[in-house]
Amino acid sequence: MKKLISVLKDKLEEGFEKAGYDKKYGFATVSNRPDLCQYQCNGAMAAAKEYKKAPIQIAADVIEQLKEDSTFEKIEAVNPGFINITVSGDVLAELARKMMTEEKFGLELPQQPKTVVIDYGGPNVAKPLHVGHLRPAIIGESIKRILRYMGDQVLGDVHLGDWGLPIGLIITELRKRQPGLPYFDEQFDGEYPAEPPFTISDLEEIYPYASGFSKEHEDYLHEAQQATAELQDGRRGYRALWQHILNLTVTDLKRVYDKLNVDFDLWKKESDVQDYIPDMVEKLKADGLAYESEGALVVDVTEETDKKEIPPCIVVKSNGATLYATTDLATIVERGKLFSPDEIIYITDKRQELHFTQVFRVAKKAGLAGADTEFLFIGIGTMNGADGKPFKTRDGGVLRLEALKEDVDRKVLERIKENRDYEEDKAAGIAEKVGLAAVKYGDLSNQAAKDYIFDIDRFTSFEGNTGPYILYTIVRIKSLLAKYERGGGALEEKGKPELLKKPDNDSETALYLTLAKFADTMEAAYAERAPHKICQFVYELSESFNAFYHGNKILGNEDASKKASYIQLIVLVKNMLEQCIELLGFSAPERM
Ligand code: ARG
Repeated sequence: MKKLISVLKDKLEEGFEKAGYDKKYGFATVSNRPDLCQYQCNGAMAAAKEYKKAPIQIAADVIEQLKEDSTFEKIEAVNPGFINITVSGDVLAELARKMMTEEKFGLELPQQPKTVVIDYGGPNVAKPLHVGHLRPAIIGESIKRILRYMGDQVLGDVHLGDWGLPIGLIITELRKRQPGLPYFDEQFDGEYPAEPPFTISDLEEIYPYASGFSKEHEDYLHEAQQATAELQDGRRGYRALWQHILNLTVTDLKRVYDKLNVDFDLWKKESDVQDYIPDMVEKLKADGLAYESEGALVVDVTEETDKKEIPPCIVVKSNGATLYATTDLATIVERGKLFSPDEIIYITDKRQELHFTQVFRVAKKAGLAGADTEFLFIGIGTMNGADGKPFKTRDGGVLRLEALKEDVDRKVLERIKENRDYEEDKAAGIAEKVGLAAVKYGDLSNQAAKDYIFDIDRFTSFEGNTGPYILYTIVRIKSLLAKYERGGGALEEKGKPELLKKPDNDSETALYLTLAKFADTMEAAYAERAPHKICQFVYELSESFNAFYHGNKILGNEDASKKASYIQLIVLVKNMLEQCIELLGFSAPERM
C-alpha cells in the first residue's frame, strides 16, 4: 500500500504542478512542530530562488490548488513559506484499515530480493561466550530478521574459530596432564574413544591456563605451535581431539545462543575452508595480484581516495603459515561457491575494521566471490561498565555471557516480585523473557558503532526507553483484550477493519499517525541495516499507545461503535509491536 508520506508527496507534487511550479518541490516531511501541524512541506522556500518570488506567495498558490482536497483536514501557508498539513481522519482510518488487512501492514517489499550471508557469531572453540560476543550476536540476529522480513534470502553463519593456536595449546596441556591417552601415541591405530577425555568445563579451565603458561614459557609455546601444525597436517590423534573439542564447544554454544534467542543457519568453521587456500593463493599469484615482499606473499590494497594508509594484505607469512586474512579470503571463495551471495555482511568488534578493509579489497580485486558480490563490515562499539571501561567481572575477569544474563534475570525477578505476587517458577520464566528484552533492547537501541554503558538498573526498569517498558505496554494490551473477551467480546487475530472509525481526539489521532510510520521505519532499518531505528519506533508507538490508553475510556466507553473501533485499533497496535520486537529478537510474556 502507498505510505502516508507518499500519498502526501503525490498531492503536493500535483499542487505545485497545477500552480505552475516544478513538481520536484512537492514533498512532505514529518512536522518538527507537532503542536502546529502533523506534516509540513518546505518546498516553497526552495522554489523561491528558481522563481524569484516570495516563498509565501508560492506556498499560497499551491494551497489554492489543494485546499478543497479531502486528503487534508487542514492545509495552510504560514510565514515565511511553510505549508503546514493536518491529514484528514478519514485518510488515517483508511490507512489503518489497510494495515490491518494487508500482509506485513501493507509494507512494500524491495523489487529485487537479495541473497545475503551474515557472519555474526565469531566464537572460538574451547572458549565460553563472553560479553564481547554479545553485541555481534544481538545485532546480527536482528539484522538477519529485518532482511528476511523485507524479503531477502538470508543465511546466518556462526563462523566458528576452530583452527589456530588455541587447539595446539589445549593439546599440549592435555599431553602434559594425561600423557597416556591414545591420542598422543603415534603408533596407535585403533579406534579412539567416542567420549572425550574432558568436559566443557575442563576445557574452559585448560585453555586460559595453557594460554597464560605459553606466554611465560617459550618452549611450551613452540610445542603448541608444533601441535597446531601437526593438527593442520592431519595427525590422526590430534584430529580426534580436535573433533572432541569441536563437539563439546558447539553443543555448549548452541545452548547459550539459544538462551539469547539467537540462531544460525550455518555452523561453518575456519577449518572448513582450508582446502580452498592453495588454489586461491595460486589464483592471486596468477592474476598478478599477490607478490613476494620480505619473504611473505602480499596483495596491495591501497586506493587513491584513501585518507590513511592501508597496508598490503599479507596472504602467506614468510614462514609459510597462513593467517586470519587468508582464512577469511578462503571463506569468501567458499561462500561464493555454495551460496552465490549478492552481499556478505560481517559483524564484529570495530577494532577489526582494517582487517576487513584489506580482505574486502583483495576479494573485490580478485573477484573471489563473484564479480558483483558486495561486502559490508558493521563494526561494533564496546559495551562498557558503569566506570566507562570495557565490561568486566568484579574481580576484573572476562564476564561470561551466561553470567551476565543471570544477573539481569535476577534483577528483573526482584522487580517483578515488587509489583505482584507470583508463584516462584512462573516468575522465573517471566524474568527470563523480560531479562532478554532488557539486554537486547538496551543494546539495540544504541547505534551499533557507538560504545555504550551497560546499566543494569536502567535497562531493567519498567519505565522509560527500555525493553521491559515495551513489554509492559504489550502486556497491558493483552490483558485489556483478555478482559474484553471475558466480558463477551469477540476477537479475531487480525481484527475487523470495517469497525475502525476515524480518530476524533488528539491522542487517538497521534496514535494513528505513529502507526503510519511503520513502513518508513522498516525501509530505513533495512537500508541502513539499523535495528536502532526499530527501537525508536517501538518506543514512540508504546508512548503513543499509553497516552491514548490514559486519555480514553476504552472498555467502559458508552458509545458501542467507538468502543468497537478502539478494540480494533488496539489489536493493530499489539500486532505491530509484537512484530517489531520479533525483529529485534525477543518476545513478550502473557503477564509481568
Ligand atoms: N573468531 C574471530 C575472533 O574471535 C571473529 C570472527 C569474525 N568473522 C570473520 N569472518 N572473521 O576475533
